[in-house]
Amino acid sequence: MRTRTIRGVPPSSEGSSWSGRLARGLAWLRPSGGRLDPDAYRRVTAVALWLIAFIVVTGAAVRLTGSGLGCSDWPNCERGRFVAPLRVKPMVEFVNRVITGYVSVAVAVAVLGARRRVPLRRDLTWLSWGLVAGVAAQIALGAVVVVFELNPVLVQGHFVLSMALVANAVVLHHRAGLPDGEDGAAVATRPRVPLGSRRLAWVAVGLAAVVILTGTAVTGSGPHAGDERAKRLPFSIHRAAQVHGVAMLVFLAAVLAFAWRMRRHGAPEPVVRATSTLLFVLVAQAAVGYTQYFTGIPALLVGIHVAGATAVWVAALRFALSLRAPAPGPSPTRPDLGHDDHRTGRGAAGRDLVAHR
Ligand code: HEM
Repeated sequence: MRTRTIRGVPPSSEGSSWSGRLARGLAWLRPSGGRLDPDAYRRVTAVALWLIAFIVVTGAAVRLTGSGLGCSDWPNCERGRFVAPLRVKPMVEFVNRVITGYVSVAVAVAVLGARRRVPLRRDLTWLSWGLVAGVAAQIALGAVVVVFELNPVLVQGHFVLSMALVANAVVLHHRAGLPDGEDGAAVATRPRVPLGSRRLAWVAVGLAAVVILTGTAVTGSGPHAGDERAKRLPFSIHRAAQVHGVAMLVFLAAVLAFAWRMRRHGAPEPVVRATSTLLFVLVAQAAVGYTQYFTGIPALLVGIHVAGATAVWVAALRFALSLRAPAPGPSPTRPDLGHDDHRTGRGAAGRDLVAHR
């Protein structure tokens, strides 16, 4: 196992106590601070991903409970009182504010960490700046949504932008786990399954995006769009839910087709695991979707559905990312084997590629 070392704090002063670990963890935040090793940076990206996913749910909770004005002051929740009183609306708004603060810190730490990571990696630096840009865009769009009185199309845009931010965080976390290559790049990767299967997988990810988009249209035409006074999209929620349900079935069919190909021809373990996880969250989410639809769309179930939508999106992206494996060694002229892998059934590194027919 690799030993983790962080320059800037003498090992003798670290100890194994929580304070020693905290000092070690914070050392690299100092302006003249130490360096961050790849494992520690990966943990930073995991925290950013969890927080960005969590704020989607707390943001939805604010909308679903009508808690937008739960706190009457800022930054205090109420005049002279930072923490909200123990009532639902102020508490929901307060928790959302706290998570917003954590998210802002987490993305700043992701950028700082990328700069302090040894070795420095260009892809991680760019992706961490992507998080900052996404959060800034989300804050700006949030203000526009309020100015336009919770217009449903803008509310849809707010959700879609959240999903783009989640995607950025998933890719950052994934790439932070790839070994380092040469010249500030990640190591080259090779396909684990042939091109046909990869195409099918990316079609499935596209369909996941369609399901999410149509889901926001269901919300925009239903009882939980913006607030009671906000405008609604000009179609019936039942028609929108039908389209959303059919999109979900097509998405499910694409993932099942991929799973069938895998079962028939075999696939490396990481691909099997990612596909099983996606199937599990997708089916659970569909069950929640139908239950909420047939029980009058209760707010609690919609909150769970929003969490499920985020989980499905993360699982779909991780599924697509699992299709390539790091391939240490000299960089090939064409890292992706493209069409050739169908004929040879082998990656350039000669492993991890299963020949589907
Ligand atoms: C892969 C499966 C599914 C995903 C990823 C998904 C995703 C979503 C998303 C992103 C929203 C919008 C949430 C928001 O804007 O706050 C939504 C809303 C909704 N979905 Fe789904 N959904 C899935 C399956 C289903 C199914 C099978 C049904 C059954 C008809 C369903 C019924 C609904 C309903 C009724 C809403 C509106 C909830 C509201 O009023 O806010 N969903 N879905």
